[in-house]
Amino acid sequence: MHPKVSAILRLFHQEGGFVSGEHISRELGVSRTAIWKHISTLRAAGYSIEAVPSRGYRLVASPDLLDAESIRSKLQSLMIGQRLLSLKRTFSTNADAMRLAEDGADEGTVVIADAQSAGKGRRGRAWSSPEGVNLYCSVLLRPRIMPNAAPQLTFLSAVAVARAIEATTDLKPEIKWPNDVLIAGKKVAGLLNEMSAETDAINFVILGIGVNLNMSADQFPDDLRHPATSLLLESGSKVVRTGFVAIMLNELDKLYADFLKFGFAPVRQEWEQRCIANGRQVAISDDGADVALGMFAGIDEDGALLLQTCEGKIKRILSGDVRVI
Ligand code: BTN
Repeated sequence: MHPKVSAILRLFHQEGGFVSGEHISRELGVSRTAIWKHISTLRAAGYSIEAVPSRGYRLVASPDLLDAESIRSKLQSLMIGQRLLSLKRTFSTNADAMRLAEDGADEGTVVIADAQSAGKGRRGRAWSSPEGVNLYCSVLLRPRIMPNAAPQLTFLSAVAVARAIEATTDLKPEIKWPNDVLIAGKKVAGLLNEMSAETDAINFVILGIGVNLNMSADQFPDDLRHPATSLLLESGSKVVRTGFVAIMLNELDKLYADFLKFGFAPVRQEWEQRCIANGRQVAISDDGADVALGMFAGIDEDGALLLQTCEGKIKRILSGDVRVI
């Protein structure tokens, strides 16, 4: 965006009502004709701006663009999002964040995109990423922990997404092991961690976070393996994407700071409380066939699901799909 155009937007936000042409002209050092041109640029980008002779201009509504500046203005985080790239379209924000990490980008760097043409899901699946409606986000971390503890970080993203959903809607998110966020039993967010590590140290971890915010029913692919939904479909109201992402990154920042200070225990406790299987009987299936039954007994340090069998033994589950009975 042209710097004078962003400066006009900033003025609108600071003043909060009508801003006279004279004031804009004085603050920005531009002519009345130039202001008119910049206002036309904003209108073409989807901003609704009222113009009243003798009063000036007023910003009535902004388009839901994932504008880096407007996200940054809402961030209170100490580390996550201090560098934030917002792309119009990319293959995969995880792939972008990996490249940046390999080139030495700082911990906390965030890549966001309005659309992905090759969004990656778990187990080599695709992640449907239409433009203008959802959140596709990747966060670069460089934790000084052993590589085998890296799966613990996915639990941080799940809790951050759940907190952001609660802060922006009246919905009640639940988490399903290993890392799906659900509303009313339907998947609303998916998380994909990717890591580069040596035997005894992590180079970096990328937390990939996809949240279906304002996707409509006809935008979901037909071949989904599990029922999926969006916050719009569940609540009936649109979520402002910049607000959602800022809250989620602020929460992730707090969770990560606590994780580095106090270890896995606090996030594990909140994750278990939010888990759909908490205190319930579950069946674990692999490729459609049930492989274990028992009472959900939490997760362990490696992120494995703990199942109490009817013989009273604790079984560790490393992969599979969870179904609450
Ligand atoms: C899953 O299969 O549940 C995980 C989906 C993860 C999708 C997100 S969208 C942002 C980031 N970039 C990607 O290519 N994938 C992750």
